[in-house]
Amino acid sequence: MRRYLVAGNWKLNLGPAAGANLAAALQARLAGRALKGDVLVCPPYVTIPAVAAFAQGAPLLVGAQDCSDQDQGAYTGQVSAAMLKEAGCTHVIVAHSERRQYQRETDALFVAKIDRVHAAGLTAIFCYGELLAERRAGRAEDVVEAQLRGVLPRLAHADRGNLVLAYEPVWAIGTGETATPEIAQQMHRTSRAIVADLLGAETARQLRILYGGSCKAANAAELFALPDVDGGLIGGASLKVDDFAGIIDAAERVK
Ligand code: 13P
Repeated sequence: MRRYLVAGNWKLNLGPAAGANLAAALQARLAGRALKGDVLVCPPYVTIPAVAAFAQGAPLLVGAQDCSDQDQGAYTGQVSAAMLKEAGCTHVIVAHSERRQYQRETDALFVAKIDRVHAAGLTAIFCYGELLAERRAGRAEDVVEAQLRGVLPRLAHADRGNLVLAYEPVWAIGTGETATPEIAQQMHRTSRAIVADLLGAETARQLRILYGGSCKAANAAELFALPDVDGGLIGGASLKVDDFAGIIDAAERVK
């Protein structure tokens, strides 16, 4: 009932030339295939136009890794959601743990950014997840609940079509350590129950919740087979066409 989404977060990797090469290779793998789900890549801002040119006509979508909470004006260095839409984006990642950590972004800023994403007609991918110390202290579910409650009820335009969640336990990001299927399913089921409480049962039933954190071709199938996991947000393994295509193939097998 929910289409899977396999999304690549390229982070600070691949300029326009290298990004175009990867997009061309991906397009060649995907062209003409009727996929059961959606495939998205999120390059750095400057690489988006080069990738968008290749994504046209392929079952391949382009997104951004962040956006401004402002529409326009004197905000040096920022990029608006409307500009991203004009450049070909359909999705914008908001609240990645690396922005929480390095840019010290807060719930109020996430709300403002997601509202701008929605006002531009784009889909927001809202990231959340606990730190290792929080999991060790037995607080993982409380932390996740606070992260969801701090943002979702305050959104002005959220609906089941313009929001995707990405559960990304921080201890699994870039570490090679993946959440076990038991942990992933438990956290996703808990997340969906919180969404039902905040946004209603029907939205919770239709909302896609992605898993992120050292997801790769070798473990994607067992994660994507879980009932509350609707695909993945992929970092390192989205940078090589064979690795990323292997993850898409896993989604096609088990979804
Ligand atoms: P890795 O897949 O490299 O662990 O990164 C996950 C991530 O942060 C995706 O947003």
